[in-house]
Amino acid sequence: MLSAQGNKWDVYRTIPLAQQINEIEAVPFILNSDSKIYYPKKNDNLKQIALFLSEYIGIANGLQIEISTESPKKNGIVLLDNFKNDNKEAYTLIVNQNQILINGASGSGTFYGIQLLRKVLLENETKSQIELPAVEITDYPRFAYRGMHLDVARHFASAEFVKKYIDLLALHNINTFHWHLTDDQGWRVEIKKYPKLTQIGAFRNETQVGKQVGVYDGKPHGGFYTQEQIKEVVAYAQKRFITTIPEIDLPGHMVAALASYPELGCAGEGYEVYKKWGVSDDVLCLGNEKTFTFLEDVFTELIPIFPAKFFHIGGDECPKKRWEKCPKCQTKITELGLKKDSKHSAEEKLQSYCMSRIEKFLNAKGKQVIGWDEILEGGIAPNATIMSWRSTQAGIEAVKQCHKAIMTPSSHVYFDYYQSTDAASEPLAIGGFTNLERVYSFEPIPNGLTEDERKLVIGAQANVWREYIKSDAQTEYMVLPRLAALSEVVWTNADKKNYGSFLNRLSDFLKIYDKLKYNYAKHILEVSPEYKVDTENGQLILSLKTSSKSPIYYTLDGSEPTLQSKKYSESIIINSAVTVKAAVISENYKSKIFTKKFEFNKATAKPIVLKNEPVDRYRFNGGKTLVDGRTGTTAFSTGDWIALYKDDFEATIDLKSLQQIKEVSMNTFTSPNDWIFGPKQFQVLISKDGINFTPVHSQDLKIAEKGDGPKITNLKAVFTEQEAKYVKIKAPIFEKIPEWHYSAGQPTFLFADEITIN
Ligand code: ACM
Ligand code: ZN
Repeated sequence: MLSAQGNKWDVYRTIPLAQQINEIEAVPFILNSDSKIYYPKKNDNLKQIALFLSEYIGIANGLQIEISTESPKKNGIVLLDNFKNDNKEAYTLIVNQNQILINGASGSGTFYGIQLLRKVLLENETKSQIELPAVEITDYPRFAYRGMHLDVARHFASAEFVKKYIDLLALHNINTFHWHLTDDQGWRVEIKKYPKLTQIGAFRNETQVGKQVGVYDGKPHGGFYTQEQIKEVVAYAQKRFITTIPEIDLPGHMVAALASYPELGCAGEGYEVYKKWGVSDDVLCLGNEKTFTFLEDVFTELIPIFPAKFFHIGGDECPKKRWEKCPKCQTKITELGLKKDSKHSAEEKLQSYCMSRIEKFLNAKGKQVIGWDEILEGGIAPNATIMSWRSTQAGIEAVKQCHKAIMTPSSHVYFDYYQSTDAASEPLAIGGFTNLERVYSFEPIPNGLTEDERKLVIGAQANVWREYIKSDAQTEYMVLPRLAALSEVVWTNADKKNYGSFLNRLSDFLKIYDKLKYNYAKHILEVSPEYKVDTENGQLILSLKTSSKSPIYYTLDGSEPTLQSKKYSESIIINSAVTVKAAVISENYKSKIFTKKFEFNKATAKPIVLKNEPVDRYRFNGGKTLVDGRTGTTAFSTGDWIALYKDDFEATIDLKSLQQIKEVSMNTFTSPNDWIFGPKQFQVLISKDGINFTPVHSQDLKIAEKGDGPKITNLKAVFTEQEAKYVKIKAPIFEKIPEWHYSAGQPTFLFADEITIN
């Protein structure tokens, strides 16, 4: 049980790291088949926890441990729930020669205590007799709201899998399950008064294939939960001290409901369950009172089956296009006296009216509402809690308006995003880049808040949108081990967090995933690259890292690395085109192979200056990203591309000496769904002195059209060979998203990658 660097008490340093671990120099406790679990008579909560613990010990160590309400004897694990602490989820865990005492400030605290003990045992190799060092642990969560979300609308997940997911949440001390039950692509919860929601709305005829807009797989997809099944899942979660919050996403993301009851839409007909990804212009008609009757009826059926205090009512990504044209919606706007002002359109205020009206209905039934951050637009419903997803900014605004906030920024906790920069060897994901380290670095409380405002940030959550996550196994892969990082973000106080220590503990924690047979991502055991561009010496530097205890072997000739290949010890210097292949290899293990192709041309590793800075989120290595020898794929957020927003692209490359050149090219990426439209022009200018530039190429480019999917374009200038020391590329941005788009009129992004000069 001794870990390499630490001491014998490190067995208690698992994930999430407990707040306080006092190491006691005393005789240890021996857990064996004579041990018993004791709990007080007539305490059903603790009885259930005792049963869980007995089961956990059986799984971890194969010991059959009895539970008992007798007065505790030597060699017992004693469960209590009278620990005096204001935090009801707090517990103490005391181990001495005679007993293990787990005392919670309530049942939930005791439950987290047995989770810790369970993890200690699961990470342990010994079976029949386990020595546990004497210790006194005091532990409690930093945040009261520790959430995980699951989108079962885009792809259905069986109730069985949802239970397995809840098991995972319990293992990571998560206490809230946010169940995204409805969306454009499927309505997943039985509503008895509206049977067509599940007869029609729960099924779609076919589904878009990957990112190929307009290409469908021809295969029906669907499914839903009966109210009985929902009750069962909710009870299953409750037993594990997890609250299930249902989300009915309104008034957008409602196409499945419109397909079932077309009269609820502005057009009144012609809807089918959405079979592609992205945001639909078709939303609920708010000029029609039937819409409100419908929503109230739906919630009236959900209230008895979801005991949670919070109900999530969505509110995100609701285009206002249909309302602008709909006579009923416009009449409603007039009736309500909603007027455009400097901040909000009348239609935004109409959405706000809807959210407030539903909130009022739910408040009257004893429920509080949560909404995505868009519900701030047009005025927030009076008592709503904000779930801040586009950034933490909306959360900040919410707490400044004395509303509660839950932080779920896509920059750090979207588990549908790529978790590796090597997107090509990952399952197709929606995009983005949220690796383990990034999740771990997340701090839910933004700087600059007052003490009172800080208290209004009740916690954080990670979201698992499943457009591209089709199976149970893939869901586990996307969630693990990022959930371990989240667990520490929401549980452990910030001053106790340390990524290096986390990685150490995680390599033991992975044994738990192995024992429980979860399909987790193994990146930390594989080769993880770090790239540098050395413009001083005109070379690229590749460093390879791993958290595995085994070494890395690599090749530069395209062959598969083996134990006979070169063992990695120091950074690899690259000054010509090469393909690097590397893997972590031991006698009985070989990781996934890391492959990276580097191109080399006159621009590679040369000094480059950008006139305008890329946006923070897509800054990466700045201008050097364009001369780093690595060509980006359509996974545009993993570090190969930089992006400008509102600003023109202009780069100047210094070739360091006069060179004969005849060709300059640059890649641009366009993806209208992601607001990425490329440049409207591609100009190349050259110079001998860096002051006087001569244009050698200029071409105009067309903006993407409706239906265009993600695409990489190689912009290329070919001209008569001439001498130059400096090359300038100018590529002005399109100012506005075109009319046909759901975000027409907004600014665009311009993505740029590898510049080549030959
Ligand atoms: C969201 O990701 N649309 C909340
Ligand atoms: Zn309407």
